[in-house]
Amino acid sequence: MNLLNGIDYGTPKRESEHLVTLEIDGKTITVPQGTSVMRAAAEAGINVPKLCATESLESFGSCRLCLVEIEGRRGYPASCTTPAEAGMKIKTQTPKLADIRRGVMELYISDHPLDCLTCPTNGNCELQDMAGVVGLRDVRYGYDGENHLKMEKDESNPYFTYDPSKCIVCNRCVRACEETQGTFALTIDSRGFASRVAPSQYEDFIDSECVSCGACVDACPTATLTEKTVIMMGQGEHSKVTTCAYCGVGCSFKAEMKGNEVVRMVPNPDGGANHGHACVKGRFAWGYATHKDRMLKPMIRAKISDPWREVSWEKAIGYAASEIKRIQAKYGRGSVGGLVSSRCTNEEGYLVQKLVRAAFGNNNVDTCARVCHSPTGYGLKVTLGESAGTQTFDSVMKSDCILIIGANPASGHPVFASIMKRRLRQGAKLIVVDPRTTEMVKSPHVQADYHLKLKPGSNVAIVNALAHVIITENLHQPDFIKERCEVDSFEEWAEFVSLPENSPEAMEQYTGVPAADVRAAARMYANAKNGAIYYGLGVTEHAQGSTTVIGIANLAMATGNVGREGVGVNPLRGQNNVQGSCDMGSFPHELPGYRHVSDSTTRAEFEAAWNCKLDPEPGLRIPNMFDAAMEGSFMGLYCEGEDIVQSDPNTQHVTAALEAMECIIVQDIFLNETAKYAHVFLPGSSFLEKDGTFTNAERRISRVRKVMPPKSGYGDWEVTQMLSNALGYPMNYKHPREIMDEIASLTPTFTGVSFKRIDELGGSIQWPCNEEAPEGTPTMHIQEFVRGKGRFINTKYFGSGERTNKDFPLILTTGRILSQYNVGAQTRRTFNNMWHSEDRLEIHPDDAAERGIKQNDWVGITSRAGQTVLRADITERIQPGVVYTTFHFPESGANVITTSSSDWATNCPEYKVTAVQITPVTQPSEWQREYNRFNAEQESFASTKLIPRDAELTAAK
Ligand code: SF4
Ligand code: SF4
Ligand code: SF4
Ligand code: FES
Repeated sequence: MNLLNGIDYGTPKRESEHLVTLEIDGKTITVPQGTSVMRAAAEAGINVPKLCATESLESFGSCRLCLVEIEGRRGYPASCTTPAEAGMKIKTQTPKLADIRRGVMELYISDHPLDCLTCPTNGNCELQDMAGVVGLRDVRYGYDGENHLKMEKDESNPYFTYDPSKCIVCNRCVRACEETQGTFALTIDSRGFASRVAPSQYEDFIDSECVSCGACVDACPTATLTEKTVIMMGQGEHSKVTTCAYCGVGCSFKAEMKGNEVVRMVPNPDGGANHGHACVKGRFAWGYATHKDRMLKPMIRAKISDPWREVSWEKAIGYAASEIKRIQAKYGRGSVGGLVSSRCTNEEGYLVQKLVRAAFGNNNVDTCARVCHSPTGYGLKVTLGESAGTQTFDSVMKSDCILIIGANPASGHPVFASIMKRRLRQGAKLIVVDPRTTEMVKSPHVQADYHLKLKPGSNVAIVNALAHVIITENLHQPDFIKERCEVDSFEEWAEFVSLPENSPEAMEQYTGVPAADVRAAARMYANAKNGAIYYGLGVTEHAQGSTTVIGIANLAMATGNVGREGVGVNPLRGQNNVQGSCDMGSFPHELPGYRHVSDSTTRAEFEAAWNCKLDPEPGLRIPNMFDAAMEGSFMGLYCEGEDIVQSDPNTQHVTAALEAMECIIVQDIFLNETAKYAHVFLPGSSFLEKDGTFTNAERRISRVRKVMPPKSGYGDWEVTQMLSNALGYPMNYKHPREIMDEIASLTPTFTGVSFKRIDELGGSIQWPCNEEAPEGTPTMHIQEFVRGKGRFINTKYFGSGERTNKDFPLILTTGRILSQYNVGAQTRRTFNNMWHSEDRLEIHPDDAAERGIKQNDWVGITSRAGQTVLRADITERIQPGVVYTTFHFPESGANVITTSSSDWATNCPEYKVTAVQITPVTQPSEWQREYNRFNAEQESFASTKLIPRDAELTAAK
């Protein structure tokens, strides 16, 4: 069971303006109408025994342990299913009730293994607790009757075991799967004595619809569903609350530990983003942190064709600093730069950009947000005035119409998808704009009202068509626009979108979506009391990514859907700290808080605080760094936590650029694909080994807490600090909290943020958090937009430069899957591979038949950039003319295919549109063969590390 504070009120909290006052065991208590008698009692400090009830689930009333006596009522009603009513007089403890409860417990225990002392959840089992609470001393029926004690365990799930012999059929797991997760994978099979929990159609867990979120494990009051790590290691002895290092939901967890080993990660019921829920990644896939592939010693080498040489930290840092200085002396100050991953903490991101700006003396710093959500930063800033989403995740519970564009939260943001699905089950309308039939289009109890299955690359066309309907059918909100927006810009935009060329009928040729559906969807969104837009990388990773973001903001402003709960513009950030890395000034043109480096007042502030001179010119973006490397003017790179070789488009261009550089310093927990091109390797620390903060997609800054010492000896922030000191720019932080204090002192939206304040506010704060908003800002733009008046901007549609033709007749689009994460470096080193062990190419049956391709055949995918080979997955999820793959495995070479085409405003790569041809093949591509050779060579270099000889290294330069 999952309770951080130890109190389970038994049934969910209710909110109501109407209060009722009742008496329980002589105590008078007032609760909101709709509250159960059980909860009312618990709030008065009276705990009624229970088994089938738990606070996170609606009451079910099956165990009959929570019976009470109510004055004037016959019988013994269940307190969990009986609503509190004004004037009730209730007794929870009487001799009769005690008798009934003992009888109930006797029946349970007579069909339960009597192995408490060796049971993995001994001491943490509600059945055991309740036996004690009701005073059960004896079982009159004996233990020899018909029972379930010999039932076989289901061990198929890699992370948890189902032991039906211990099941009390309380239904909590079934309800958790339905209510909390929204997957509906479990059922109670059979009736009466024979009834037992069954996944899907009586399958094993692994073969069922179960997505391994663990909600049922949390909900189970017995040891029936138990984590395998708990079975193996026993229960944790101490714990700390920290934040998931995977996606932008930012779930809070309690890491339960034995010594320095994690026993399990328990989702935190007080987590502001997740409220006690989690997904298979954060809940279970943390084993990578102690995987044997972790690189724990610094290494250096002169050339990438040399074996690595293991050296001391001092030597590695000294060598890295001397190389940066040597390169700058030879090629100029701007010839080096730094990259910091959006997986790093805010404090680490802040330090890397400070290192580059203050110690390298240029602005050549960038982050992987460049390749995912940089258009969000641009598009929302120019329209609304702030480069961030407008809502909390919980806001969706007040939405009446949800418009999802280019996002699949069920895979990318699973815990948020569960919240969203809950709202959809309550009746909210759903419009999905996506080239694929994702889980959000159709899944148990969820069915999109409209699926606008557009052609990749036509987002702007569809957004304009939606706007056309809203304006020409007078569905916009003139009062909101007049009061809150720049009226001139609105009029100009309204005139633009009203043009016949932007009508759904005219746009149909580009989008492929029937005009009638677009019209109906536009009406549904505009007429909803609260309409909310959620979008993802299917919007941003396009040549017109920024244009679509602007178009989305236009739609929200025109319909008055900004500035309150239930509405808004919500970018679903891919990685854990995409928002934070952008906030921290990791882009080359912006200092922390999105202030342009050319602004002399801002620069002066940072120069005074940092005691250095700052370059007023924006630095190089990632693709510019690669181009400059090829031209011979960018020769050194410090790369913390980012695997550009696997994640960035046009792999051959990336690797050629890296090969052209003279010193690449990689700081990572694994010898990743980029490290294979590096000259200095600095071991990184996992999220379990560091203190700091992550900022999720709802601007929520949450604490990351060190639960074990860094395996390499240093946290990532310490390594950056050592490098800075070696370069002659002093950094003397003693703890990441001091870095956050500095961030707060220099960033207007963060002035109220500190580790102490985060703790005081229950573990997280949503920025802006400053004097005006000391408790943070859940909803933005309430009275006015951050920029004052909202600005409409025209969004002319241009077709992608990636055109299909007879040589490349199909469009490849890419995405992600639930069990894997980004480049897969973490999840590939866990049992998550059981769900997805390779990247495959989804292709429509018509396109497959035309090419003679059968299920699982190897197929060559050729684009203007390159060729790779994957196995085919023939499916109608994808439309004819479009193919789809993921990019979680390096040997797949998905980015060998993608091109250098990018967003006009931000250079965010156009991953979602690549013209390709698909052909049956029998062997790997040339690139894959070369990859395999290079990979084997590099792995051998790492496993045959030599003792360094400095003279040799110096001579090689
Ligand atoms: S792990 Fe999650 S999806 Fe699977 S059965 Fe349990 S609650 Fe349902
Ligand atoms: S598996 Fe656990 S939660 Fe599910 S019915 Fe059995 S005892 Fe209850
Ligand atoms: S991956 Fe995302 S949804 Fe899953 S537990 Fe981590 S933060 Fe939550
Ligand atoms: S707790 Fe109320 S019937 Fe089980």
